[in-house]
Amino acid sequence: MALLPIEILGSEVLRRRAADVAEIDEDLRILIGDMFETMYDAEGIGLAAPQIGISRRVIVVDVREEGAEPFALINPRLVETGQEREKGEEGCLSIPGLAAPVDRPLRVAVEGMNADGHPVRIEGEGLLARCLQHEIDHLDGVLFIDHVSPLKRRMLLQKWKRSFATDAVLKAEGEGRSGARG
Ligand code: NI
Repeated sequence: MALLPIEILGSEVLRRRAADVAEIDEDLRILIGDMFETMYDAEGIGLAAPQIGISRRVIVVDVREEGAEPFALINPRLVETGQEREKGEEGCLSIPGLAAPVDRPLRVAVEGMNADGHPVRIEGEGLLARCLQHEIDHLDGVLFIDHVSPLKRRMLLQKWKRSFATDAVLKAEGEGRSGARG
């Protein structure tokens, strides 16, 4: 298994529709293992393949507080959404440091394949349903900031850019000093 770098907002692959997985082979199982490792390292509860630069329809989810076992889903499709909706705070490993409440259906049913190629159906509510929707969105090039109002979205992005620039400056400063010492 390997830790993979996570694509950050601005990366084109995050905005692309990911391709269906045609064949479940050893490479795909390795990819899934790498995705779990990368997700756990980043302390996330879900990860979609485009977030590690792979434009294929694969997600991994670990929402233990909902009592669900960690799972991978291949070619997942949202097949049912309940009428009831709920607002809940979301963040994304591809937009580090940013969070916002997002309104989504409270309950969903998702169908896809597991890592063995068997068809599976997952019915979830609350955090599990939210996570499934967030990760499937990634496969269609959609990010959680797309679900808030245009005004709120502009504010969020401005805030994010500011904090990100600060991080970049701090990093550059740190490297500059070590370079000077060397
Ligand atoms: Ni995300």
